Amino acid sequence: MCGIIGYVGTQDAVPIIMDGLKKLEYRGYDSAGIAVFGRHGFDVVKRKGRLTALEERLAGEPIDGHMGIGHTRWATHGEPSDVNSHPHVGSGNRVAVVHNGIIENYKQLKERLERKGVTFVSQTDSEVIAQLAEYYYTGDLLDTVIKVANALEGSYALGIMCLDEPDTLIAIKKDSPLIIGVAGNGLFLASDVPAVLKHTNKIYYLNDREIAVLTKDQVEFFNPDKEPIQKPQETVTWSVDSAEKGGYPHFMLKEIMEQPGVLRETIQSVIHNGDNKNIIDNIDVTRFSKIVITACGSAYNAGVVARYVFEKLCRIPVEVELASEFRYKDAIIDEKTLVILISQSGETADTIAAMREAKSKGAVTLSIVNVVGSTIAKEAQHTVYTLSGPEIAVATTKAFSAQLVVLYALAIRFAAKLKKITPQTETELVSALVSLPDKAAELLIQINYIQKYASECVGYKSIFFIGRNIDYAIALEGSLKLKEISYIHSEAYAGGELKHGTIALIEENTLVVAIACCKSLYGKIQSNAEQVISRGAKVLFVGNCIDAAPGDKLSLITLPQINELFSPSLSVIVLQLFSYYVAANKGLDIDKPRNLAKSVTVE
Ligand code: G6P
Repeated sequence: MCGIIGYVGTQDAVPIIMDGLKKLEYRGYDSAGIAVFGRHGFDVVKRKGRLTALEERLAGEPIDGHMGIGHTRWATHGEPSDVNSHPHVGSGNRVAVVHNGIIENYKQLKERLERKGVTFVSQTDSEVIAQLAEYYYTGDLLDTVIKVANALEGSYALGIMCLDEPDTLIAIKKDSPLIIGVAGNGLFLASDVPAVLKHTNKIYYLNDREIAVLTKDQVEFFNPDKEPIQKPQETVTWSVDSAEKGGYPHFMLKEIMEQPGVLRETIQSVIHNGDNKNIIDNIDVTRFSKIVITACGSAYNAGVVARYVFEKLCRIPVEVELASEFRYKDAIIDEKTLVILISQSGETADTIAAMREAKSKGAVTLSIVNVVGSTIAKEAQHTVYTLSGPEIAVATTKAFSAQLVVLYALAIRFAAKLKKITPQTETELVSALVSLPDKAAELLIQINYIQKYASECVGYKSIFFIGRNIDYAIALEGSLKLKEISYIHSEAYAGGELKHGTIALIEENTLVVAIACCKSLYGKIQSNAEQVISRGAKVLFVGNCIDAAPGDKLSLITLPQINELFSPSLSVIVLQLFSYYVAANKGLDIDKPRNLAKSVTVE
């Protein structure tokens, strides 16, 4: 978590860094800070709270400089406060550092430095990096950074400046993302591409322990032995507009509305001219005795949906594991296991660890990732990209939907290769999948009704989501979405499980959202709805096989018809909009929900 940016160039660094931080705020927003190489040394301004607090402070007390570093924080060690904000500067005011990651041995390093007389001012793990760099510095910042990195255990992406080297900005990373941007007006380091997109789409992706030395017109790369290395420059295709709100009040709404286009692009990338010739063709699928899908948050929920699709079409056992559990459970996997990693950012610490665990046990790894060049995309043996463009809102929407369609496409091809479906069924499924973007667009026409319905739901203390089979899988995502951004307590249950506990929580005017796209199970979910209505609940049915009339206690949102297996892609759009409008009506900070961060790069 946390976002870092650095700039050295011909322009004033302050507006450039502040603008970049706005694009990185999704990574954490407990506090923010900036340091520039000013006329008389480092000028450092840090503020607890959102970036706007820092902006206000800078407006009253402007600073400027041609080189600087900035940080937006998701607190791990030390409460959110001015002093715990980054950048951290050593006691001698000679080295300034921004850090994303966690230094696991900071206590030992801190104690060692304290014994040498160094005084610390913050409670953070990160301050030790600045103090250590000052302690080691003997006239060469690159040497110093290598020495510091050798002493650090844990994860870090760092931007470092030294008062004795006024034109040099150094970047280094291990287990936290860091990119270098090359623009006409200077050089950048940043946690993520959107922070620099306004200035350049020419990007270098740093690998672990690589070091970049930036001056105003060039970048040099080194390995940890200080040997120069060559790296390929890449051109990213994300547009500047994709990282802007484009007239919408929130990124989340913009990203929800972008879904038909995102689905179309992603489907086209895995299905060409109606032929489902995708990455599975490079993998001998007959060797697998099972599939394990592992991920975190919404990506995990995409995995739960995929389990139903893979098992139904491929007749192969599928396990879905939270990456944070999978990594420590000594999983029973081997070279006959396909492990699918799903991650929007490609940087989620638990998912990275799960991937490495899977590889170490000989399993074949296939990742579904949105951010090009991210750790998971690079390290997995096979990678399929979701073409969602940058997703800024912390609560994922379009990236989740893109993950689903990639999973569907893989499952269809997998089943065909295993000869579990006929060529004709494959063709029919591909054609249903290709029709999905238009169905999503058709569904979005109902936005006003969903908005109106949601506006009446702001007062609920709890909202339950139920479904059966694949409808249950998407109920999990609906519930997560709601609690993330509206702070209303919510749980998702398999309809059949209600009677084993949750029904005790149903009372007068509890809201239960029932997903109903599984035709064969419609009667069952309808009984569940009746059970809760007879105990005073109100039910919102979301589905395309509903056979009930709306009434006082029953509301309906009808979805376009689509093959049942792909219906989660439609029901989730309703659930996203429902959550969005509930939160909007509560006046909440939808794109940056409290305590959350989009890219969870720490454990
Ligand atoms: C965070 C985000 C979620 C996301 C999860 C996994 O919790 O808020 O939206 O689903 O991380 O992130 P990933 O980047 O691995 O998909």
